[in-house]
Amino acid sequence: MRFIANRSSGKQGFAIAGALAALGAATTLVSGPTALASPARVKIVRVETAREMLAACEAALPADVAVMAAAVADWRPETPANQKLKKLAEAEPQIRLAENPDILATLGHAGARRPRLLIGFAAETENVIAHAKDKLSRKGCDWIIANDVSPALGVMGGENNTVHLVRAEGEEHWPHMSKGDVATRLADRIAAALGRKVAA
Ligand code: CTP
Repeated sequence: MRFIANRSSGKQGFAIAGALAALGAATTLVSGPTALASPARVKIVRVETAREMLAACEAALPADVAVMAAAVADWRPETPANQKLKKLAEAEPQIRLAENPDILATLGHAGARRPRLLIGFAAETENVIAHAKDKLSRKGCDWIIANDVSPALGVMGGENNTVHLVRAEGEEHWPHMSKGDVATRLADRIAAALGRKVAA
């Protein structure tokens, strides 16, 4: 039996949820399949499909901030098989795909229910900043954490990350650091931004 998947571990998203909860935020973590244990003081909702993830994210609203770190599959098999597919010598298999919902873009265009601060990720292998800026406007979010996930860098499944914080007013290039340190720094930026919004 085989399946097609990606090598994303969930480590960065779990670290961000843990860092926000450590700052005192009431935090819900919506997670796809992963071997990771829930961080302390976090409400975890485990899902298996993109459509379940969208429903769980919508159920978690309203929220002051949403951070969308999941490597969601853009596509799913149109008709999943209920039984093992036998190998037929005369025909190579064709898998028809149907498009998954874009969870970040859905929240970005959610009107009154849109989180006050909406943060997406942009996993890229080339033109990292340019693609991130494009995603910022296309998906209607406030900030993008952009990173280069070229296989040689070992980000997917690894312990470290090199990210760029892309906002309408400009970019910050963060040094190479652990996913835990990325999470702590992002949680600090979020607290500062929400503090300003509350004060405004
Ligand atoms: N995302 C999402 N729902 C999807 C696909 C992606 O919410 N169905 C979110 C991811 O969680 C991330 C952001 O969108 O915050 C960017 O994901 P990425 O895979 O880089 O972008 P894509 O939309 O898949 O664009 P492309 O593959 O063309 O780069």
